[in-house]
Parts: sequence; C-alpha cells; structure tokens
Amino acid sequence: MTTADAGLEGCRYYWYAFSLTDIRAEILTRVSMLQVTGGCILSPLFYIGCLVVLDMIPEIEAFLLCETPPAWIEQALQHPEELLIDHANCEKKAAGTALTLMFRYAEKEDLQQKMSRLAREELRHFEQVTAIMKKRGIKYRQLSASEYAKRLHQHARIQEPGRLIDTLIIGAFIEARSCERFYRLLPHLDEELGKFYQSLLKSEARHFEDYLKLAQQYSKEPIEERVAFFAEQERQAIFTADATFRFHSGVPAL
Ligand SMILES: [Fe+2]
Ligand SMILES: [Fe+2]
Repeated sequence: MTTADAGLEGCRYYWYAFSLTDIRAEILTRVSMLQVTGGCILSPLFYIGCLVVLDMIPEIEAFLLCETPPAWIEQALQHPEELLIDHANCEKKAAGTALTLMFRYAEKEDLQQKMSRLAREELRHFEQVTAIMKKRGIKYRQLSASEYAKRLHQHARIQEPGRLIDTLIIGAFIEARSCERFYRLLPHLDEELGKFYQSLLKSEARHFEDYLKLAQQYSKEPIEERVAFFAEQERQAIFTADATFRFHSGVPAL
C-alpha cells in the first residue's frame, strides 16, 4: 500500500466514524505532525486535498433539506450493477440536459460556456464509469429512468423566463443530490470505486454552483422563493417510496 493509498483508507475511515468538524481537526493535526517530523510530502498533500473536497460538503448539505436515507444506501450496496449502470445513465443525461440548454438559449453567453464545459465533464464521467463497469464484467444496458427528475420538472413553469430559471434550479438540486450520494456511499465502497467517487465530488459540487449562479444571473427577481419551493419538492421526492432502485430513487418500497 502506498502512502497516498494509506491516506485514502484513513480518510475514508474518518468520514465514516466522525463528524465533519472532527475530521477537519484530525486531518489538520496530522498534516502539522507530518510537517514537524519531516514526513512524506505526499501524505500532507493528500490530506489537504481531502480538506478541499470536504469543505464543499456543508454547502451541499445546507442546500438540501435532508440526507439520503440509510435504507437507500443499504439498497445501493445490494445492487452494485444497477448502481453503476444507472450512474452511467445519469452522466449521459446530465450531458444531454446541458446540450439542450445550449441549443435552447443560444444568446446567453455565460450559459453557453458553462454548459459546454459541464457537458464535456459529464461525458468524461460517463467514459470513466463505463470503463470501471467493463473491468468488472458489467454490461451497459438500458434501464428505465427513475421518477426523481420528473417529480421535480413537473413543477417547472412553462413561460419564459420562469422556464429557464426553474430548469436551472432543478439542475442545481440534481447535481447537489448526486454529490451528496457519492459522499454518503464513499465509506462503503472498494478502493477503486471509492477513489473514483471521491474524484467526482469536486466537479459535481461545481456543477451545482454553476446552475445556481446562472439561475440568479438570468432572473430579474430574487430566486430564494423558488429555491425553497424546489427544496421541498426534492425532499418529498427523496422520501417517496420507489419499487425500483435507481441512483436517484426514493426510499425502498417495502
Ligand atoms: Fe458527472
Ligand atoms: Fe454533474
């Protein structure tokens, strides 16, 4: 096991066992100890990387009204194939949504640039998750979509500019929930998948911020009320019973 690998193991354990504040304090102590004793440079750098990612989680958690229920985590661990296949689907759909917005709102320059980068990143994530699936002998296949996105989009306004603002806010919630689910799954995953999901946290957190900033930028009014409205819809979607497991499904139906 390399120093960086040992660091990842330690980091994963701390995520699982302690609160965020405890983790941050522990990592800082370890970084300073290693600096004092002249420890390997890789390890402090790794821990600092962990801190950067961890710093984004409270913002995501504050945005969402609830944590993913433990019953969903248990179900995800019982369906490793569906988890990866539907994760790949979600990456592809995220890229598709970004491209749709680019075609629909060609005159909005910031949206064009942010969505172009986002679509590229989502397709890269698709390639990464399907590469892991191939290594594990999991064949990519069509899976029915979860109701999650539909549960949010059914409340979007039809007239512009409300349609754009609501679509961007919904995008922020989907990205934030994806990020939160990667984070919750981390302590339970094997090393390869754990490293991959950890690497996704940063970009998904940025996608959440991009969607939210664009919503505010293109709205003539404050968006807080719409954000609060969709936060409640999202919370309800997460606590709706779903018979079929998917990356964004609600609580498992009994
Ligand atoms: Fe992604
Ligand atoms: Fe994303």
